Order: sequence, then C-alpha cells, then structure tokens
Amino acid sequence: MKDLRGLILSGGKGTRLRPITHTSAKQLVPVANKPVLFYGIEAMAAAGIREIGIIIAPETGEEIREVAGDGSQFGVEITYILQDEPLGLAHAVLTAEPFLGDAPFVMYLGDNLLQGGMLDLVDAFRSNEPDALILLTPVDDPENYGVAELNGDGSVTRLVEKPKEPATDLALVGVYMFTPGIHDAARAIRPSRRGELEITDAIQHLVDSGRRVEPHVVRGWWKDTGRLDDMLEANRLILDAIEPHIEGELIDSTVDGRVIVEAGATLIRATVRGPAVIGAGTRLTDCYVGPYTAIDAGCEVQNAEVEHSILLAGSSVRNLDGRMESSLLGRNVKIHRDARQPRAHRFMVGDNSEIGIP
Ligand code: DAU
Repeated sequence: MKDLRGLILSGGKGTRLRPITHTSAKQLVPVANKPVLFYGIEAMAAAGIREIGIIIAPETGEEIREVAGDGSQFGVEITYILQDEPLGLAHAVLTAEPFLGDAPFVMYLGDNLLQGGMLDLVDAFRSNEPDALILLTPVDDPENYGVAELNGDGSVTRLVEKPKEPATDLALVGVYMFTPGIHDAARAIRPSRRGELEITDAIQHLVDSGRRVEPHVVRGWWKDTGRLDDMLEANRLILDAIEPHIEGELIDSTVDGRVIVEAGATLIRATVRGPAVIGAGTRLTDCYVGPYTAIDAGCEVQNAEVEHSILLAGSSVRNLDGRMESSLLGRNVKIHRDARQPRAHRFMVGDNSEIGIP
C-alpha cells in the first residue's frame, strides 16, 4: 500500500459552540489547554503519517494556519486546503482531491477526540486492505450522528446520516480510512436534506457498489466536541490522564491531585484540587479551583471559586459570591462583582451567549 496521507477537516461553521466560535475556529477551542485540533495532528504523527492536508474555511482558516503552522512542531508537513463553503464532508474530500491524488488516506474530523490514537486502526487498514474502514461506537443519542447497521457476520449493510428513527445505537466516529475509490463515490452522490454532500452517503455508495467497508468498534472513549457539554466532558477525560507537574510559583497555596501549573503561573493563598491545569502567566489569588478545570494562559482568578470549567486565555473571574461551575469562558472575558449602586446585574455580552444566575 502507498504511504497514507492525512486529511483533517477544520472548515465548517461551528454554530453549536457560539458565541466562542463567532470569533474563533471551533477546532481551536482548547481541551486541557491544548487546541482540539492538535490532538488529531499528534495522533496522525504518532501513526507515522507525515503529509497532512487541513481543510479550512475562509472565515477561520487564517487563525488555524497561524496556530498549527507548517507542521514542523509536530514533525509533519501541513498543506492547507481552502473549502469556499461548508458543503459537506464528502465535498471536503473532493476539495482535497488534488492534494490526496491516488493515495490512501485517514480522514479525521478536526473537532473530534479519540482516546488511544489510531495506530491499531492504521495497522488493520494496511494489513486487511479494505476499500474503507469506519469506526463505530455505541451512543445514547444516535439520531445526532451517522448510524450504521451491520449484518450478522459483522459487515456493514446500511449507513444513514442523522436518522430520525435510528435502527441501531452505533454511531460513526469522526475518523475514517479510505482508498482513492471514495472520490468517485463522493462524485456519485447528491446533497442530503440539510444540503450537504454527506460522507455517510458516499460510504453507503461504496457498500452498494460491492466494495469492502470494514467496521471497527472503538474500545476507548471518543468525543465530538461540537457542544458545550461534550467539550466539558472531553476536558474531563483528558485531564483525568494528565501527568502532574508544577513549574509555576506557589505562595501559601495548596495543590492536590493531578495538577499542572505551567511556568510563569503564580498561586497566592490558592487551593487547587485536581485534575486541573493552570496556564502560563495565570494568577490565582485567594481562590479555590476545583476538579476538571482548565485555565488557559494569562487568566486571573481572585477571591472566587471555579470548578469543572474551561477558561480561555486572558479571562478573569473576581470577587464572586457563589461558585462558578460547568462554564466555558471565551478569550478576555471578565466576570466580577460590581460594588456600584444601584446593586444590579450589569452585563456586556456578545450574541448567542448564555448566562445562568442563581
Ligand atoms: O462527529 C461524528 C459525526 O460527524 C458523524 O457521526 C457524522 O456521520 C458526520 O456527518 C459528522 O457529523 P457532524 O454534523 O457532527 O459534522 P460537522 O458539521 O460538525 O463537521 C465535522 C467537522 O468537519 C468539523 O470540524 C467541521 C468540518 N467540516 C464540516 C463541513 C460540513 C468541514 O471542514 N467542511 C464541511 O463542509
């Protein structure tokens, strides 16, 4: 088999994570202080893939290019491929055809996280040489995914994108392996009800043409980080496995459990209970940071309690009465108690934000 190439899909709109994704790509929202996208690139690099194409959208492409660069930080070579409009995953494959040529490839959705990487899958793909290899996992809400039906012998019979009445609970995970036959399949299909060229339909086309589509049920966890709850859960899963280390400065502070305090962070009379990560240059003063919290670089938490939350770079939380939890703060967000009279809630909040007040 020719050398495998990688294709990461980081276009699309990210409507479900607004307002964060109004100004930033959803694939760059950090999980445990690392952009989601980096987990995919690293998994490909670890599986020996050296040439990776990244699909980008006109609105967020520049930012992705700036952050991921030419790939040298991961030991890979990245080619950026502009998809003018988010017309579907199979459309993204067709857009990447000049880059992919006749190479077999791994396609990875840029907002997905897959525990355990893809080394085993790449090995199975190389040795069994199917026309396509798809990953499946049981989920509670199959209607939100591509859903697979299998035969008694375990072969794939039917794939349906977001069925209203799913026949099984086996969802298509956002990691796929293809031989070049997928390009013709993507050309043969028509847009779905949501107006997209669905990769699910292209794979169904392979099945209908008698091609061999091999299913693999994933053993570890998998997360599509497209929604807030999934994002918080992905953050929990990754933080659960971090190697603790403290490089920042602790003054009269306590740190328990799995905690990373990055260089340049300062903790003054703070208690941090892991798993948690505190980013470079962040300052925690007279505060409590509870389990499953990721605070990115240059943040400030003062006289407040924060738990099970993600704070993006440059945000601050000060003088809160109650505990802040299960929250996602974008960049440079400020939340603080305001002593001015009259006593009232005062907000300056962007479009599509959500605020819960007890
Ligand atoms: O997460 C797994 C699911 O991903 C599968 O079960 C579904 O079968 C599959 O269609 C896909 O569903 P989503 O509706 O979650 O896909 P989404 O629109 O979120 O796009 C996935 C990634 O691909 C995301 O990083 C954005 C990118 N994308 C999306 C479109 C539609 C592109 O790069 N170009 C596009 O045209």
